[in-house]
Amino acid sequence: MTTPKSRDLFVSRLGILAATLGSAVGLGNIWKFPALTGQNGGASFLLVYICATMLVGLPVLVMELAMGRSQRANPVTAFRKMSPTGYWWLIGVSGVVAAILILGFYTEVVGWVLAYIVSSATGSTNSTDPAVAGQLFQSLISSPWESVLWQWVVFVIIASIILRGASRGIERVMRILMPVLFLLLLMVCIRSLTLPNAMEGLRFLFMPDFSRIDGTVILMALGLSFFKLSIGMGVMLTYGSYFRSDVNVPVMALRVVLLDLLISLLAGIAIFPAVFAFGFEPTAGPSLLFLTIPAVFASIPGGQLFTVVFFILSAVAATGAMLSLLEAPVVWLSESFKINRRKATIATTLFFAAFGVPAALSAGVMSDVTVFGKTFFDLYDFLSSNVLMPVGGMMLCVFAGWYWGDANAIKALSNEGVLSNTGIIRTVLFLCRWVSPVLIFVVLLKGLNVF
Ligand code: PHE
Repeated sequence: MTTPKSRDLFVSRLGILAATLGSAVGLGNIWKFPALTGQNGGASFLLVYICATMLVGLPVLVMELAMGRSQRANPVTAFRKMSPTGYWWLIGVSGVVAAILILGFYTEVVGWVLAYIVSSATGSTNSTDPAVAGQLFQSLISSPWESVLWQWVVFVIIASIILRGASRGIERVMRILMPVLFLLLLMVCIRSLTLPNAMEGLRFLFMPDFSRIDGTVILMALGLSFFKLSIGMGVMLTYGSYFRSDVNVPVMALRVVLLDLLISLLAGIAIFPAVFAFGFEPTAGPSLLFLTIPAVFASIPGGQLFTVVFFILSAVAATGAMLSLLEAPVVWLSESFKINRRKATIATTLFFAAFGVPAALSAGVMSDVTVFGKTFFDLYDFLSSNVLMPVGGMMLCVFAGWYWGDANAIKALSNEGVLSNTGIIRTVLFLCRWVSPVLIFVVLLKGLNVF
């Protein structure tokens, strides 16, 4: 496996773990995971989610990383190199489009998080009255200037890190942010667990209700594992292209999966005991993050500090995910059109930020503008999570399992014969061939409401 000198690679093993885990960890852990687990049968949903992650998420992650490292290129070029005559490179293109859409709404939510760091620090979120909390949130999201401005602040922050490159930008920042995230999360967990009634929240999260498991729940768990692991759109392929040649890819992927799960569980433990202790409704989505959390913490001694900490940790968690979403298109632009990283970063950011504006304005002046009955914010979310990511993931599996060839997969995953892990590689190939594509196909049809 050659390592081109001109390519910026991640330098240390710890840095590789921090950057890759950083992409997986994000808003998905903070509200999507706890809310879905709480609403779909608690521990039984968790079990289904773990099975989906192990049977589908992990093999796809392993293959994406391995293909990236073996080709040392952006997703479009990597697929062109692996299959010069096929159309598999379209997977890379669909990934770029998905990145535009995800960043379009993701940066807006993170913009609200930044705004809330400020308003919780100044004390304006410090009220237990749901009406006050609702008004504060509504006035933020419906103000066009505030929404767009905060979103652009987010874009400027991530672009300034991406400008520095893979090792000096992403790796360096994530090596600091990941431990910070763990620490802040533990802090909120301890506070939450020492509240009266904390056990009730834990019961909500962890008591299994097997009667709730049905087709829809299985499909939701599978969709979540896809979004969580940032797979099916070339983001992980791009990160794999920065992996050193001596990294054990299946082991690294397993570490990422397990640590990501741990962070999701900690987020659940941080949120639900607090929510139950004060009799709030465990609803999903932004309302949990922006309405419930400040109100919950406002009722605790020292709560203002915990609200600030909570929003800082949400911003920290989301940073790695956003960096990976911008990085993949930037390297594609810079490698395919031979432009330097600086220009590619600026051009991509401006383009992406322009696409973000309709999502930012969705809750305000553009709330009446809908496509297929959805505001731009919801449309971006739907198209990326329910269409492009599953299609990309399914095609990626089909390519890895059926077209790339066992010899190439074995070469890439065994570090050219250095590791004796043939059993693991055969299992991954089996899953990519027979299990993952079928399951993803079903998710896709369900996501499109075909049945
Ligand atoms: N994994 C991220 C999260 O959980 C989201 C993400 C999706 C990041 C796709 C990159 C690519 O928030």
